[in-house]
Amino acid sequence: MSGPSVAVIGTGYVGLTTGACLAALGHHVVCADADLRKVERLRRAEVDILEPGLPELVADGVESGRLEFVHETPAAVAGAGVVFLCLPTPMGVGGAADLAAVEAVADEIRTVLAHGAVVVNKSTVPVGTAERVAALIGRPDVSVVSNPEFLREGRAVQDFRRPDRIVVGAADPDAARRVAALYAELDAPLVVTDAASAELTKYAANFFLAMKLSFANNLATVCERFDADVDDVIAGLGHDPRIGAAFLQPGPGWGGSCLPKDTHALLTVCEESGVEFPLLRATIETNVRHQRQLVERVVAGCSPGDGSLRGVRLALLGLTFKAGTSDLRDSPALAIARLLKERGAELRAYDPALSESRPDLSDLLTLAGTPEEAVRDARAAVVLTEWPHFRDLDWETIAGLLTSPVVYDFRNLLDPRRLGRARLTWEGIGRSFAMAG
Ligand code: UGA
Repeated sequence: MSGPSVAVIGTGYVGLTTGACLAALGHHVVCADADLRKVERLRRAEVDILEPGLPELVADGVESGRLEFVHETPAAVAGAGVVFLCLPTPMGVGGAADLAAVEAVADEIRTVLAHGAVVVNKSTVPVGTAERVAALIGRPDVSVVSNPEFLREGRAVQDFRRPDRIVVGAADPDAARRVAALYAELDAPLVVTDAASAELTKYAANFFLAMKLSFANNLATVCERFDADVDDVIAGLGHDPRIGAAFLQPGPGWGGSCLPKDTHALLTVCEESGVEFPLLRATIETNVRHQRQLVERVVAGCSPGDGSLRGVRLALLGLTFKAGTSDLRDSPALAIARLLKERGAELRAYDPALSESRPDLSDLLTLAGTPEEAVRDARAAVVLTEWPHFRDLDWETIAGLLTSPVVYDFRNLLDPRRLGRARLTWEGIGRSFAMAG
């Protein structure tokens, strides 16, 4: 076997997907992670994130010898022609991205990198990071390239294999071409540009997606005010290809590990650089306001009359930030749970992706093993994650377990007629039972 062509530093969902998919494309990939136990598990092809298709790809890669896992970063980097940095860039103080992990690794690998190696920033990093990493590495023979990822959690493998586009940005066009060549087998439009433009593309994409969602959620409120049906309005809008129907489903606000972090980071850098971008602030504020409005609806329907939820037990159905993942980071469901708790509610929640023991959630809520256990003796059920099988729950049984027959469907997931047959009152977003029924 020849030496590694690619090193991947960090095996989170971006790093592991990138490594496993590049190995599947025929490259020899060595992934490094600072967590030794994780490395040992990955060597046995044990994947601990919920990502369809990924365990199989990792197993294939390990078996074929094209995918290796090591604990020491220098061991992965030595001899690699291209080194992907897939490191966490969490929200730091003041909202800006925290680059400590990227900078630490840049420092660690600077003397180990092979002659002429290319370092690729895959994580979402602020504009100017490629330049900063190049300066930290300080080697004229090493180029730094920005190649942002556009992977959705829960669909990461599919998004890697069938990307909408591949964006590669670098000061050195030859380095950009070398990175683009790794994806040669994928059939996708290629945008080759400078590093700053590539870095900004990623932020612009996530901001635009968040803006669509804040628009949809706000539109739902307008629909409620004018007795219009948000689903129909969005269907009517979406047929215009300039608008499109995707990513306009109203919900309990947008969350996850990327959209909130990236919109805040973009807002922070714009403010620091004196660039006004009022849409950005409005997008973030709309999300917060929308969640408060949803909570007010529950208070209006369930309060004992004093504007609080003291002594009111509520069942939450779904806690993850979207269906198909076990990820709770910046979950809108948890944001809503906290607001309900602040008003005094007692919360019992069910989520199919979470086990019953989650000490980190115990101050906020009790986790139930089944939806029925969550709703028993609750004043109302609140649907917060769009797990498809919630549609097919035994709603007659649930109606019998609730103390009053109300379901707040903050994902517009359920069939209102089905709930009506179970003598449950359905409360969706931006549409009433009369329209939906
Ligand atoms: C997001 C982007 O969609 C990816 O393109 C990007 O690569 C990724 O961030 C990233 O930066 O790594 P992800 O965080 O997996 O992907 O989540 P999304 O599927 O975008 O969902 C974000 C939030 O919006 C969730 O809370 C989801 O429930 C909500 N959402 C999404 C809606 O409320 N309505 C919709 O129509 C779509």
